[in-house]
Amino acid sequence: MCKSIVVLASGRGSNFKAIAQAVKEGKIKASIKLVISNKKGANVLDLAEKFGIPAEFVDPSLFSSREEYDSFLVERIKKVNPDLILLAGYLRILSQPFLKAFKGKILNIHPSLTPAFRGLNAQKQAIQFGAKYSGCTVHFVGEELDYGEVIIQAVVPITPQDTPETLSEKILKWEHRIYPQAVKWFCEDRIKVNGRQVIVLNAKYGTLPTNPQLEDF
Ligand code: GRF
Repeated sequence: MCKSIVVLASGRGSNFKAIAQAVKEGKIKASIKLVISNKKGANVLDLAEKFGIPAEFVDPSLFSSREEYDSFLVERIKKVNPDLILLAGYLRILSQPFLKAFKGKILNIHPSLTPAFRGLNAQKQAIQFGAKYSGCTVHFVGEELDYGEVIIQAVVPITPQDTPETLSEKILKWEHRIYPQAVKWFCEDRIKVNGRQVIVLNAKYGTLPTNPQLEDF
Protein backbone atom coordinates (compact mmCIF):
# COMPACT_ATOMS: atom_id res chain seq x y z
CA MET A 1 0.00 0.00 0.00
CA CYS A 2 1.24 3.52 -0.82
CA LYS A 3 2.49 5.37 2.27
CA SER A 4 2.20 9.07 2.93
CA ILE A 5 5.16 11.13 4.03
CA VAL A 6 5.77 14.52 5.62
CA VAL A 7 9.26 16.07 5.46
CA LEU A 8 10.75 18.56 7.93
CA ALA A 9 13.80 20.41 6.65
CA SER A 10 15.66 23.65 7.28
CA GLY A 11 17.94 24.30 4.36
CA ARG A 12 19.43 23.12 1.11
CA GLY A 13 17.17 20.10 0.73
CA SER A 14 19.41 17.75 -1.22
CA ASN A 15 18.24 14.72 0.77
CA PHE A 16 14.63 15.76 0.27
CA LYS A 17 15.36 16.02 -3.46
CA ALA A 18 16.89 12.53 -3.61
CA ILE A 19 13.83 11.07 -1.90
CA ALA A 20 11.30 13.11 -3.91
CA GLN A 21 13.06 12.00 -7.10
CA ALA A 22 12.90 8.35 -6.06
CA VAL A 23 9.19 8.76 -5.33
CA LYS A 24 8.65 10.45 -8.69
CA GLU A 25 10.45 7.65 -10.49
CA GLY A 26 8.24 5.09 -8.74
CA LYS A 27 11.16 3.52 -6.86
CA ILE A 28 9.49 4.39 -3.56
CA LYS A 29 5.77 3.67 -3.41
CA ALA A 30 4.76 6.71 -1.43
CA SER A 31 3.39 10.17 -1.70
CA ILE A 32 5.07 13.18 -0.09
CA LYS A 33 2.12 15.20 1.18
CA LEU A 34 3.82 18.16 2.79
CA VAL A 35 7.18 19.81 3.42
CA ILE A 36 7.56 22.05 6.46
CA SER A 37 10.50 24.31 7.15
CA ASN A 38 11.38 26.41 10.18
CA LYS A 39 13.49 28.68 7.93
CA LYS A 40 11.93 31.32 5.75
CA GLY A 41 13.07 31.11 2.13
CA ALA A 42 14.80 27.76 2.66
CA ASN A 43 15.87 26.19 -0.61
CA VAL A 44 13.94 23.05 0.29
CA LEU A 45 10.66 25.00 0.01
CA ASP A 46 11.47 25.98 -3.60
CA LEU A 47 12.48 22.44 -4.40
CA ALA A 48 9.20 21.12 -3.00
CA GLU A 49 7.25 23.48 -5.19
CA LYS A 50 9.17 22.27 -8.23
CA PHE A 51 8.04 18.75 -7.36
CA GLY A 52 4.47 20.02 -6.93
CA ILE A 53 4.49 19.25 -3.21
CA PRO A 54 2.81 21.65 -0.75
CA ALA A 55 5.48 23.48 1.22
CA GLU A 56 5.06 25.64 4.30
CA PHE A 57 7.26 27.83 6.44
CA VAL A 58 6.22 27.76 10.09
CA ASP A 59 7.80 30.69 11.87
CA PRO A 60 9.32 29.72 15.25
CA SER A 61 9.30 33.35 16.40
CA LEU A 62 5.50 33.21 16.65
CA PHE A 63 5.70 30.66 19.46
CA SER A 64 6.92 31.16 22.98
CA SER A 65 8.52 27.75 23.46
CA ARG A 66 9.80 24.76 21.57
CA GLU A 67 6.91 22.69 22.96
CA GLU A 68 4.35 25.17 21.66
CA TYR A 69 5.95 25.20 18.25
CA ASP A 70 6.10 21.42 18.13
CA SER A 71 2.48 21.09 19.32
CA PHE A 72 1.43 23.32 16.45
CA LEU A 73 3.38 21.12 14.05
CA VAL A 74 1.71 18.02 15.51
CA GLU A 75 -1.76 19.43 14.82
CA ARG A 76 -0.75 20.53 11.33
CA ILE A 77 0.83 17.19 10.50
CA LYS A 78 -2.07 15.18 11.96
CA LYS A 79 -4.34 16.71 9.34
CA VAL A 80 -2.20 14.94 6.76
CA ASN A 81 -2.06 11.76 8.87
CA PRO A 82 1.26 10.52 7.48
CA ASP A 83 2.72 7.05 7.90
CA LEU A 84 6.20 8.49 8.05
CA ILE A 85 7.94 11.74 8.98
CA LEU A 86 11.38 12.41 7.57
CA LEU A 87 13.86 14.85 9.04
CA ALA A 88 16.11 15.99 6.23
CA GLY A 89 18.53 18.57 7.53
CA TYR A 90 16.02 19.76 10.12
CA LEU A 91 18.04 21.94 12.47
CA ARG A 92 15.76 21.85 15.49
CA ILE A 93 15.62 19.37 18.30
CA LEU A 94 12.17 17.81 18.57
CA SER A 95 10.43 18.03 21.93
CA GLN A 96 8.25 15.55 23.79
CA PRO A 97 4.86 16.48 22.27
CA PHE A 98 6.19 15.76 18.80
CA LEU A 99 8.12 12.62 19.71
CA LYS A 100 5.14 11.18 21.57
CA ALA A 101 2.67 11.92 18.77
CA PHE A 102 4.70 10.16 16.10
CA LYS A 103 6.67 7.52 18.00
CA GLY A 104 8.28 4.96 15.68
CA LYS A 105 7.40 6.98 12.61
CA ILE A 106 10.21 9.52 12.47
CA LEU A 107 13.47 8.95 10.60
CA ASN A 108 16.57 11.12 10.40
CA ILE A 109 19.83 11.12 8.50
CA HIS A 110 23.00 12.13 10.30
CA PRO A 111 26.41 12.65 8.63
CA SER A 112 28.43 10.36 10.91
CA LEU A 113 28.46 6.77 12.02
CA THR A 114 26.31 7.20 15.12
CA PRO A 115 26.80 7.16 18.05
CA ALA A 116 30.06 8.93 17.09
CA PHE A 117 30.02 12.65 16.35
CA ARG A 118 26.44 13.48 17.18
CA GLY A 119 25.04 17.00 16.86
CA LEU A 120 26.22 19.83 14.66
CA ASN A 121 29.29 19.81 12.37
CA ALA A 122 29.70 16.05 12.52
CA GLN A 123 32.16 16.01 9.62
CA LYS A 124 34.39 18.59 11.30
CA GLN A 125 34.16 16.67 14.57
CA ALA A 126 35.33 13.48 12.82
CA ILE A 127 38.33 15.23 11.23
CA GLN A 128 39.30 16.98 14.44
CA PHE A 129 39.11 13.72 16.34
CA GLY A 130 41.43 12.13 13.79
CA ALA A 131 39.01 9.36 12.83
CA LYS A 132 40.02 7.28 9.82
CA TYR A 133 36.42 6.61 8.87
CA SER A 134 33.16 8.40 9.17
CA GLY A 135 29.99 8.13 7.11
CA CYS A 136 26.28 8.54 7.48
CA THR A 137 23.43 6.91 9.33
CA VAL A 138 19.69 6.66 8.83
CA HIS A 139 18.06 6.07 12.18
CA PHE A 140 14.78 6.27 14.05
CA VAL A 141 14.36 9.44 16.05
CA GLY A 142 14.08 9.08 19.80
CA GLU A 143 14.60 11.28 22.82
CA GLU A 144 18.39 11.41 22.59
CA LEU A 145 19.90 13.42 19.76
CA ASP A 146 21.23 11.32 16.86
CA TYR A 147 20.98 8.18 18.95
CA GLY A 148 17.94 6.25 17.71
CA GLU A 149 17.95 2.71 16.33
CA VAL A 150 20.17 2.42 13.27
CA ILE A 151 18.56 1.30 10.02
CA ILE A 152 21.50 1.68 7.64
CA GLN A 153 24.97 3.19 7.66
CA ALA A 154 27.53 3.85 4.94
CA VAL A 155 31.21 4.18 5.68
CA VAL A 156 33.46 6.81 4.12
CA PRO A 157 37.24 6.86 4.63
CA ILE A 158 38.86 10.07 5.85
CA THR A 159 42.18 10.91 4.24
CA PRO A 160 44.79 13.29 5.69
CA GLN A 161 43.88 15.75 2.93
CA ASP A 162 40.19 15.91 3.82
CA THR A 163 38.61 19.15 4.98
CA PRO A 164 35.11 19.36 6.47
CA GLU A 165 33.94 20.42 2.99
CA THR A 166 35.50 17.54 1.04
CA LEU A 167 34.39 15.02 3.64
CA SER A 168 30.85 16.44 3.63
CA GLU A 169 30.75 16.07 -0.14
CA LYS A 170 31.86 12.44 -0.02
CA ILE A 171 29.41 11.62 2.75
CA LEU A 172 26.55 13.43 1.02
CA LYS A 173 26.85 11.14 -2.02
CA TRP A 174 26.12 8.23 0.28
CA GLU A 175 23.35 10.11 2.10
CA HIS A 176 21.53 10.44 -1.19
CA ARG A 177 21.66 6.67 -1.61
CA ILE A 178 20.98 5.33 1.87
CA TYR A 179 18.14 7.68 2.83
CA PRO A 180 15.94 6.80 -0.16
CA GLN A 181 16.83 3.15 0.45
CA ALA A 182 15.71 3.29 4.08
CA VAL A 183 12.51 5.11 3.14
CA LYS A 184 11.76 2.49 0.52
CA TRP A 185 12.25 -0.27 3.10
CA PHE A 186 9.96 1.52 5.54
CA CYS A 187 7.30 2.00 2.88
CA GLU A 188 7.45 -1.70 2.04
CA ASP A 189 6.95 -2.61 5.73
CA ARG A 190 10.29 -4.40 5.74
CA ILE A 191 11.79 -2.74 8.82
CA LYS A 192 11.45 -4.63 12.09
CA VAL A 193 12.74 -3.19 15.36
CA ASN A 194 13.69 -5.47 18.22
CA GLY A 195 15.14 -3.44 21.09
CA ARG A 196 18.00 -1.54 19.49
CA GLN A 197 18.34 -4.01 16.65
CA VAL A 198 16.81 -3.16 13.31
CA ILE A 199 16.32 -5.98 10.84
CA VAL A 200 15.39 -5.31 7.25
CA LEU A 201 13.39 -8.21 5.90
CA ASN A 202 14.90 -9.77 2.76
CA ALA A 203 17.77 -7.27 2.71
CA LYS A 204 21.04 -8.33 1.13
CA TYR A 205 23.56 -7.88 3.91
CA GLY A 206 26.84 -7.69 2.00
CA THR A 207 30.13 -6.15 3.00
CA LEU A 208 31.35 -2.70 2.13
CA PRO A 209 34.95 -2.20 0.99
CA THR A 210 35.79 -0.29 4.11
CA ASN A 211 39.08 -1.67 5.37
CA PRO A 212 42.36 -0.12 4.27
CA GLN A 213 44.88 -2.13 2.31
CA LEU A 214 47.57 -3.30 4.70
CA GLU A 215 51.24 -3.19 3.72
CA ASP A 216 52.72 -6.06 5.65
CA PHE A 217 49.85 -8.19 6.84
C1 GRF B 1 22.92 16.52 5.68
O1 GRF B 1 24.30 16.42 5.78
C2 GRF B 1 22.24 15.65 6.72
O2 GRF B 1 22.96 14.49 7.01
C3 GRF B 1 22.20 16.55 7.93
O3 GRF B 1 21.97 17.84 7.40
C4 GRF B 1 22.41 17.90 6.05
C5 GRF B 1 21.23 18.32 5.23
O4 GRF B 1 21.56 18.51 3.88
N1 GRF B 1 21.22 16.11 8.88
P1 GRF B 1 20.40 18.72 2.83
O5 GRF B 1 19.57 19.90 3.31
O6 GRF B 1 19.61 17.47 2.74
O7 GRF B 1 21.10 19.04 1.54
